[in-house]
Amino acid sequence: MPSSPLTALRDAKAGDEDALDPEAMRRPLPEAWYCVGQAKDFRRDKNFGRSGLRAVELNGEQIVLGRDAEGALFALRDRCPHRGMALSKGRFDGAELTCPFHGWRFSTDGRCRDVPTLSAQDKADFSRIAVQRFPVRESAGFVWVNPHLGPPAADVPAVPALDFEPAGCVVVELVVEASFDLTTLSLVDPGHVAFVHDSWWFRPSKALREKVKTFQPVPHGFVMTSHATTTSSPVYRLLGGVPEVEIEFRLPGVRLERITAGTRRVANYTFATPMTADRTLLTNALYWSLPALNLLKPVARPLMRQFLTQDQQVLQHAQAGLDRKPTMVLFGEGDLPSQWYFRLKREALEAARAGRPFVNPLERRELRWRS
Ligand code: FES
Ligand SMILES: [Fe+2]
Repeated sequence: MPSSPLTALRDAKAGDEDALDPEAMRRPLPEAWYCVGQAKDFRRDKNFGRSGLRAVELNGEQIVLGRDAEGALFALRDRCPHRGMALSKGRFDGAELTCPFHGWRFSTDGRCRDVPTLSAQDKADFSRIAVQRFPVRESAGFVWVNPHLGPPAADVPAVPALDFEPAGCVVVELVVEASFDLTTLSLVDPGHVAFVHDSWWFRPSKALREKVKTFQPVPHGFVMTSHATTTSSPVYRLLGGVPEVEIEFRLPGVRLERITAGTRRVANYTFATPMTADRTLLTNALYWSLPALNLLKPVARPLMRQFLTQDQQVLQHAQAGLDRKPTMVLFGEGDLPSQWYFRLKREALEAARAGRPFVNPLERRELRWRS
């Protein structure tokens, strides 16, 4: 199993690492909301076979999702308690799922409602059989699942939301053969941009420039605000005026870029979702408030896919290197946000273990780097 390399971090923070199981730090946060797909794809009448059920892989767990006849989402472990059959392969009538192996039926809360092969004389009681149910939510056009089993902790990072009504949206999803941590670090890593994302439309100039940005803590993360952006990207120029850009990172692996130019709004959201220990789903959603920008949809999609593919390729090669030797050297101020990611994650784990609220360990500060 690939591990999150923390050697450099440990050296920097020697002394306070004894409390937490290091294995827990290598895994994605077990209790958090993860994006599992676009809400529009979870429709009974659409896409996912006659049943309308959809199977997803989340943090090593097989999960079956669907909407009942009233439109309410549900998420159950995709495993029939009888002999392990995938319930997603069965039928769903809008109220009950039927296992295709022996016909056991389950309601969307996971309870077993019928074992049709039981004789009327049989005293066996199926009412105590149940499939594990996961919390599920809908926000910003996506479906979010918390893969945690057991009683919920109070202090879980908020599900990303949109604070304007979008006129349009483009979504690109890509599977990266790399660990969740390595993929998530790319969301807070300013140093790779000039080298990985050097397309003409995103970075017309190849030269590295000095950057000074202020970061401050926000609930479960940190935010970088910049007024009068210095970027010469044609994407920003399309908006007209001088945009204000705010980039927030939030646990577990959420990057929220909000661009405001007058009354115009653009949001570029990126979500990392752990599928297995070595496979991560990257989802990028671009929303805009200006109806005229809908004309750019056919152009935006391939460009976004190109951008995400650049991350995918480099992350997969880096993962191969980390598989051979799982250490990193987090170095210089440009790597501080990466260190902050691990500090936030450690705090989330420690707070959950102690049953106390999350206390953001970060402080406001300025960072300088060249990108
Ligand atoms: S495996 Fe599901 S009913 Fe037997
Ligand atoms: Fe990137």
